[in-house]
Amino acid sequence: MKALVLCGGHGTRLRPITHTSAKQLVPIANKPVLFYGLEALRDAGVEDVGVVVGDTAEEVCRAVGDGSRFGLRVTYIRQEAPLGLAHAVLIARDYLGDDDFVLYLGDNFLLDGLTGVIDGFRRDRPDARLLLTPVADPGSFGVAELDADGRLTAVEEKPERPRSDLAIMGVYLFTPLVHEAVRSIKPDPRGELEITTAIRWMLERGTRVTSHIVHGYWKDTGRVEDMLECNRLVLESLETRIDGEVDDATEITGRVVIEAGAEVTGSRLVGPLIVGEGAVVRGSYLGPFTSIGPGCVIRDTEVEFSIVMERSSVLGVPRMRDSLLGKDVVITPAAGQPRAHRFVVGDHSRVRLG
Ligand code: DAU
Repeated sequence: MKALVLCGGHGTRLRPITHTSAKQLVPIANKPVLFYGLEALRDAGVEDVGVVVGDTAEEVCRAVGDGSRFGLRVTYIRQEAPLGLAHAVLIARDYLGDDDFVLYLGDNFLLDGLTGVIDGFRRDRPDARLLLTPVADPGSFGVAELDADGRLTAVEEKPERPRSDLAIMGVYLFTPLVHEAVRSIKPDPRGELEITTAIRWMLERGTRVTSHIVHGYWKDTGRVEDMLECNRLVLESLETRIDGEVDDATEITGRVVIEAGAEVTGSRLVGPLIVGEGAVVRGSYLGPFTSIGPGCVIRDTEVEFSIVMERSSVLGVPRMRDSLLGKDVVITPAAGQPRAHRFVVGDHSRVRLG
C-alpha cells in the first residue's frame, strides 16, 4: 500500500499566507499541517509516499526531505499546474504501479489517525473507498449520496443544491482500477480533472465503490478559521513542558510548552499555548489557544487564540485575537504625532481593527 499526498494547488482561500508559502505547511501547534498527515500514514503502516508538488515544490521538499525523519520513503512528483486531483493521480501512474494506494490531500487534518481506515480497506478490498463526514456546508465540498441501505449511489463536486450533508473527506483509498477512470474522464468546465468525476465513472460502471462515515474530528484547513480551530484542538491535548527560560516575574496557568532557547520574562501565560524555539516574550499576556512560532518576538502585547508564524515580531499591541500572522511579519507601535495606524500590507491581506 502506497500513499499519494497532494501538496500542489494554489490555496487562494488562505491568501496572503499562500502567496509565499505552501498551505500544507501552515503550522498547527508549531507543526505543519502536512506533518500530521504523514505521521498518520506512517502509523497506519504506509512506507512509500509519493508527494505531488507544484509551485511551492522547493519549500515542501525542504520541509519533508527524503521522508526518513517520519520513517517514510518519499518520492516527489512534479505537477506542472494544479489541473485537478485526478490529474495528480494520472501523472503518478508510474510511481504508483499496480499497488493499492491512499490518496491524501495535504491540507486535510484528521484527529483520529488512519490505521482503522486503512486496515478496513485492506480487509474488504473494494475498488475504491471514500471517507464521508456530515458537515453544515456540504456545498463547499464533494458530496456523496447513499441509498437506504447505506450504499454509495452518487457523488457530486461542490453542488449548488447538495442532496445530502455528507462531505467527501480528503482521504480516498483506491485499487489500480482508478487509473483507468482518470484516463477516461474529461476535465470539468474549469479545466480541472476532478477525482469526483473519476469516482462517478467507477460508480456508473458498477465497480465496488464503498464509503465509510467518519464521526471524528476532520477539517479541510483551507480557511483561516479552520486553521485556528485545528490549532485550538491540538493545543487542547498539550502537556506542559518547559525547556526554555522563564523568569520569576512570569506567571503561568494551565498547560504550556516553552521550547528550548525561548525566553519569557515579566509575562502572564494562560495555556494551553506553545512558544517556539528561540522566541522572546516580554511584558506580555499570552492567552489560551495561541501558538508562537520559533524566533518570534512578542513584547508589551496581549494575544490569544492566534497563530504567529516563525520570526514575526508583535510589539505593543494591546489586544490581538483570532489572528493568523505569516512569517517575518512586523507589527510595532507607530512613533510620533499624530497618533495613527500605519500600514504596509501585502495583496489580499485582511486587517480588522477593534
Ligand atoms: O478537502 C476535501 C475536498 O477536497 C473534497 O470534498 C472535494 O471533493 C475535493 O475536490 C477537494 O476540494 P478542495 O476544493 O478542498 O480541493 P483543493 O483545490 O483545495 O485541493 C486539495 C489539495 O490538493 C490541496 O492540498 C492542494 C492539492 N492539489 C490540488 C489540485 C487541484 C494538488 O496538489 N494538485 C491539484 O491539481
